[in-house]
Amino acid sequence: MCKLSVFFIVLSFYTIVNAGLGSHSLWALATHIIGETPFPEFTVVLMLDDVQVGLYDSNMKAFISSGLNPTDKIHDDLAQDGGYVFGTMYQSIKERSFQLKHHLNLTRGVQVQQRMAGCEMLDNGEPAMIMSKNTFNAIHTDRTLYYNMTHLTYDAGKLLPGWDAMRKEYLRILFEKVFLPICIKTMKTILKREKNVVMRKVPPRLRLIKKEVSGGFQLSCLAFGFYPRHINMTLLRDGQPVAEQELTGGEVLPSGDGNYQLRKSLEVSTEELKKRHYTCTASHLSLDNKLDFSWESGAERVHLSTLSALLVMLLVVILFSIFICVKRWRCTASQALVTSCQHGGH
Ligand SMILES: *[C@@H]1O[C@H](CO)[C@@H](O)[C@H](O)[C@H]1NC(C)=O
Ligand SMILES: *[C@@H]1O[C@H](CO)[C@@H](O)[C@H](O)[C@H]1NC(C)=O
Ligand SMILES: *[C@@H]1O[C@H](CO)[C@@H](O)[C@H](O)[C@H]1NC(C)=O
Repeated sequence: MCKLSVFFIVLSFYTIVNAGLGSHSLWALATHIIGETPFPEFTVVLMLDDVQVGLYDSNMKAFISSGLNPTDKIHDDLAQDGGYVFGTMYQSIKERSFQLKHHLNLTRGVQVQQRMAGCEMLDNGEPAMIMSKNTFNAIHTDRTLYYNMTHLTYDAGKLLPGWDAMRKEYLRILFEKVFLPICIKTMKTILKREKNVVMRKVPPRLRLIKKEVSGGFQLSCLAFGFYPRHINMTLLRDGQPVAEQELTGGEVLPSGDGNYQLRKSLEVSTEELKKRHYTCTASHLSLDNKLDFSWESGAERVHLSTLSALLVMLLVVILFSIFICVKRWRCTASQALVTSCQHGGH
């Protein structure tokens, strides 16, 4: 049950992050549990884009942001805002859990309510939206709130009676004037701290793989180990993009090292493979130009780039050895230089 709901929240989180409009997002993934489990009653995981940056739970009652010295001044502000926001969230989610339990007449067992709440920011640092979405017992979509800087969209869900106009207006003001500014401010603070992680650019390694299957071949474009997750990659047939409907795969997945991978495949007959020319092409934030890969020349290219990297390394080693030798020779050759060498060494 608990494993299932954790899986569910991760799944829906990636769907939303994937569809996001903003350049960066900050999301709190909160879980409230009624009933006996080994977990705290309330837990929050804070995510900046796809990187975990903080934790809060009802046992420690404090917001811990990952990777910061506790004496840091920034940490105080973050901890204070986090403590306030997650404390408020704890009260509201708890209240709703008990209302739901009562309303749905759930007298026994474990009840799990999950909430995804967060905001997105544009490239220029302006807020883009704030949203809160609830799920009850991993299957019922509950209340959703979405504020896009001009309008509040409110979906009461089917589980509990909705709110009146006054409560909605109160909520719009709370979102606009309190939670959104805190969310954006927190995002900027953490973004500054985590920029080496979140703003890193890792180019994809591109491959075109040919595999024999019954009736012909399966051609797969594979982009591996890139970050951020947005990528455009497709298979070209004689220089023209193959229609997405013909391709299988196409889901961006984690590559296990904090980066991402993507595979798109196409089935072709043996004659077709002989007659036509297939290539892979990808564009990614980390690349100035498109990365193209054709399957005939592919192997050579990999060799060339690996070889040149090896050559550069060899050259560096040789130059370094020459440098050391020359320095040693000079040092033994001249008394004055010996002194300077010793000074340099200390
Ligand atoms: C709630 O559950 C109890 C026990 O299962 C049952 O007796 C009662 O009629 C139920 N009430 C409603 C409103 O469904
Ligand atoms: C927000 O949503 C409303 C209603 O859906 C729409 O009319 C408005 O243009 C949107 N505003 C922005 C800034 O996207
Ligand atoms: C992918 O293509 C779209 C539409 O052509 C473009 O707007 C976007 O910037 C591209 N993304 C990358 C990462 O190249």
